[in-house]
Amino acid sequence: MGTGLVQGASGPARQKVCIIGASGKLGQYLVQHALDRGYEVVGVCRPASVSKLDAFEGRITLFPGATDDGGVIERAVDGCDGVLTVLVPRGVHDYASGTAQAVLDHARPGARLLFSCGWHITLDGRDVYSWKIKALVKLAGPLARLVRFADLDNQVDACRRVFASDTRWIVVRGSDLEEGDSQGLPVWSRHVGDPILKSNLTRRIDFALFLIAAIGNDELVHEAPAIVGRQTPSALAHAAITPAP
Ligand SMILES: NC(=O)c1ccc[n+]([C@@H]2O[C@H](COP(=O)([O-])OP(=O)(O)OC[C@H]3O[C@@H](n4cnc5c(N)ncnc54)[C@H](OP(=O)(O)O)[C@@H]3O)[C@@H](O)[C@H]2O)c1
Repeated sequence: MGTGLVQGASGPARQKVCIIGASGKLGQYLVQHALDRGYEVVGVCRPASVSKLDAFEGRITLFPGATDDGGVIERAVDGCDGVLTVLVPRGVHDYASGTAQAVLDHARPGARLLFSCGWHITLDGRDVYSWKIKALVKLAGPLARLVRFADLDNQVDACRRVFASDTRWIVVRGSDLEEGDSQGLPVWSRHVGDPILKSNLTRRIDFALFLIAAIGNDELVHEAPAIVGRQTPSALAHAAITPAP
């Protein structure tokens, strides 16, 4: 699944990907990368956000709706080879777990399922967190829930469901993000706390690049790579031992 083209009996057929949260900042970068790679692109976003995707009119198919609505997701992921779920569900109505569950329930068997999240998610409990990340989860998490802005526990629950599923999932864990021109594919490691990740910064455009590249990387299936920009000091210091994404 390296590019959006596969050879069929009557010539190359386009592979199809669905981007859930297409109207977000990360989502819009993903739409562009997916089109650049020749994929047929389907997007899901809230109805009020459709206009954020005006620049792609005529080049993608949109399914406006709630991302945790099984009916919307079932129609959107129909026939998709890859499904990329890249939103930050605000609010405290179990949007994150509802969205993840809808994708797990309706994506076709064998499809590559990509999910983005932050470093606070852990696959095997062997991540080593800085005091800053611990404080963020301990203090900002309950505060965000109190003011009904976001529910970090529900994001954890969403990822638990993904990890426990028998799908071909990859959970990509992003560092702090910044805007700017691409620096190329980020580097990654299995555990937060590994020296290569120390710089804790990735360009958002490159987070999207990693996600789209991961669709074609069998070695990442059932991994939760934590990423960092390839031009950051910690990545450069460990360049010689960097695994290719
Ligand atoms: N921001 C960071 O520093 C950071 C760091 C590490 C990892 N990440 C990960 O990166 C991904 C994207 O982050 P981002 O900062 O670039 O965010 P973003 O994509 O710019 O924006 C958030 C997205 O979530 C959607 N959304 C919010 N509440 C929703 C709801 N209740 N139902 C449906 N959709 C909802 C928004 O939709 P609308 O367009 O409709 O508003 C928007 O598409 C996330 O997985 C996040 O965990 C972010």
